Amino acid sequence: MLARIGEFRAVHLAQLDKRARKIDWGAVLRADVPVKVEATCRRSKIYHAGAATQRIARAITEELGAPEGGEGAVRVMARIEDDLVTLSVDTSGAPLHRRGHSPATGKAPLRETLAALFLRRCGYDGSEPVLDPMCGAGTFPIEAAEIARGLAPGRARRFAFEDLATFDPEAWQAMRAIPSPRDTALRFHGFDRDAGAVRMAADNAARAGVAGCTAFACQPISALTRPEGPPGLVMVNPPYGARIGNRKALFGLYGSLGEVLMREMRGWRVGLVTSDGGLARATGLPFLPAEAPVAHGGLKVTLWRTDPL
Ligand SMILES: C[S@@+](CC[C@H](N)C(=O)[O-])C[C@H]1O[C@@H](n2cnc3c(N)ncnc32)[C@H](O)[C@@H]1O
Repeated sequence: MLARIGEFRAVHLAQLDKRARKIDWGAVLRADVPVKVEATCRRSKIYHAGAATQRIARAITEELGAPEGGEGAVRVMARIEDDLVTLSVDTSGAPLHRRGHSPATGKAPLRETLAALFLRRCGYDGSEPVLDPMCGAGTFPIEAAEIARGLAPGRARRFAFEDLATFDPEAWQAMRAIPSPRDTALRFHGFDRDAGAVRMAADNAARAGVAGCTAFACQPISALTRPEGPPGLVMVNPPYGARIGNRKALFGLYGSLGEVLMREMRGWRVGLVTSDGGLARATGLPFLPAEAPVAHGGLKVTLWRTDPL
């Protein structure tokens, strides 16, 4: 997430240098934290991004005294467009989907932020069980368990804003302290035919602090049986051709998935995520009108939802 810190016009490098020095860098950056500048230029008289980067970096190091680059540097982004220089600071650091507890990922992992988005779009509020019959590294069951337990996303990670001059450690501590985790009697199930994926999912759940309410097992979709307890939500992100496997073979897999869900999961809703509408329809599931696609890993993926089967 970028926070805007200043804006000015500049038509040549000397002007960029002079105006960059007028920015109150000390209001945002700390003199003891290294800074890394990244500039881009479009439709501007200043067209050399490298030279622009160097001028702004020098302005910061000389005016503020902060060292340049290196491990843990705060990133300052300069976008120069139509001769307008817009300066922002990166408040996140590592991308937000890196929640700090799931370094183990399978072949085609779903970003945690997207898994959370799709769960919410299915109306998920933490009050029902979730099952993923092709769970890979376990992203859906783990996100759902975290929502059910009221665990804040990103609680295990650092954010770049903690290194800014504006950071208020007490306010942040108070925000992190609430809400406290709730217990849940619900179970969050994940299955995959790949034993390695199942091990990863279990490790990730342990790291996320939801091992107690999640259950992972190595099992193909053909062996799926309905878990005991109330109905809930099946979330699934089957393989899709452009990433793994070949599309023809996948039609059979999606067809079997649809059949087994219709047979075993009556009363449960389904949310299926795929880049391929033809494959989604091959399940034969009674999908509601499709949602708008979302960019993911160079593809566009779509959430297909059903009412209770
Ligand atoms: C796109 S990945 C799912 C990624 C997962 N959402 C995550 O975030 O890690 C698809 C998964 O389906 C699994 N799979 C493929 N065919 C299967 C089958 N017949 N039964 C069970 N799992 C299967 C693969 O092993 C793979 O882990």
